[in-house]
Amino acid sequence: MDLLISDVANKEHIGTSVTLRGFVSNIRKGKNNVFLMLRDPSDVIQCVSHVSDKTFSEVSKITRESSLELTGKLKEDKRAEGGYEISIDDLKIYGLAEPFPIKKGHKKVFLFDNRHLWLRSRRVTSIMKIRSSVFESIHEFFRNNGFYEMQSPSFVGGSVEGGSTLFEIKYFDKKAYLSQSWQLYAEAMVDSLWKIYTVAPSFRAENSRTWRHLTEFWHAETEVAFLDLNGLMGLEERLVKHVVKNVLLKNQVELNVLKRDQTMLKNAVEKPFLRMNYESVIDLANKNGLKLEYGADLGADEERVITSKLDVPVFAMNYPIKLKPFYHKPDPSDPTHVLCNDLLAPEGYGEIIGGGQRVDDKETLINRLKEDGLNPDDYKWYIDLRRYGAIPHSGFGLGVDRLVMWICKLPHIMYVVPFPRTPRRIYP
Ligand code: 4AD
Ligand code: MG
Repeated sequence: MDLLISDVANKEHIGTSVTLRGFVSNIRKGKNNVFLMLRDPSDVIQCVSHVSDKTFSEVSKITRESSLELTGKLKEDKRAEGGYEISIDDLKIYGLAEPFPIKKGHKKVFLFDNRHLWLRSRRVTSIMKIRSSVFESIHEFFRNNGFYEMQSPSFVGGSVEGGSTLFEIKYFDKKAYLSQSWQLYAEAMVDSLWKIYTVAPSFRAENSRTWRHLTEFWHAETEVAFLDLNGLMGLEERLVKHVVKNVLLKNQVELNVLKRDQTMLKNAVEKPFLRMNYESVIDLANKNGLKLEYGADLGADEERVITSKLDVPVFAMNYPIKLKPFYHKPDPSDPTHVLCNDLLAPEGYGEIIGGGQRVDDKETLINRLKEDGLNPDDYKWYIDLRRYGAIPHSGFGLGVDRLVMWICKLPHIMYVVPFPRTPRRIYP
């Protein structure tokens, strides 16, 4: 008992009686037999009942997406999908399904309205399996490299990534916000633990409705003591290589279901990532038809042009100070720029990581807060960290959903989240 299709659909089990549970993904009825495709998390298998079988009348009642347990003899059948077939000897129906609303050819909005049912499709299941591998690999990477897993609150009193994307909520008689990033708390925890990470949801009231923005996304963040920008980029590269390598090892079946060309994924594992400073990135964009001035911010459209031309991920480094939040450390050799990096995924995807070296000096921090229009009094505890034994430190945030989207090469971030949240969608 408790066997999956992938455990039994093999030469070893031919001629034996097997019991499987699952959902019926397809039904074909003939005059003398009924064929069911039984689906479980591992695979699908063809099951058949002939008119002379005692199970025939009950099998004939079964509808698409009904759930059941069946027992029968396994045999090889070259014509069946997967190459095996079970002749049904015994049957227990858990739930007889009403007519299933999802059929081939539905539009995206209908499918997301029925996300709770659409999740069962082979394609979506494949994406979710890859998503699971990505999360597993992130935890594995940090745990194997001596990081502590630490949590920060989701209810917070102020902004990290700019006020325009803050979700305001009523917190008893006060105002509070949903966290945009664990970073400020991480900078406190890093003083005692030195190497920490988290994987948690972050929230952004992004009204931009692009193909790569969610209002709730999964954020893998890390903070490391005594690490500079250069070392940080090395850490980012090792993490991304580890994740992609694991997916290539574990998820060949799923990548093939998605018809994912794997060249760029293999490149990301085998070749070094590029490193370019901000001005070179602007030059590259302009060489490819854009007309950007130095000082222009890079959004999805610009990054699409830049990364369509590349065959490995690229670090875009040292942005002008005006383009980045207060916590980035100004470059000592050119304080008009900061020691930051965005890691841009190839094939048009763009930013999957944002990070950098942090301001470690109290006066600079207070000035930077004011320049960003923030009140230093609201950041008293954060400023304290620069008053009592400041250390050089760096960190980054990886958008896990964006990484999954690129690995699967999908056109919209909603496809990689079980129940996505966007400005227009909070159901189901
Ligand atoms: O670049 P961001 O805003 O950086 C931070 O939040 C830093 N405080 C992280 C840190 O240093 N600890 O966000 C980091 C990453 C982005 O590169 C992107 O991949 C993802 O988070 N991200 C989003 N993903 C989906 N939907 C959104 N609305 C996102 N906003 C950011
Ligand atoms: Mg960013």
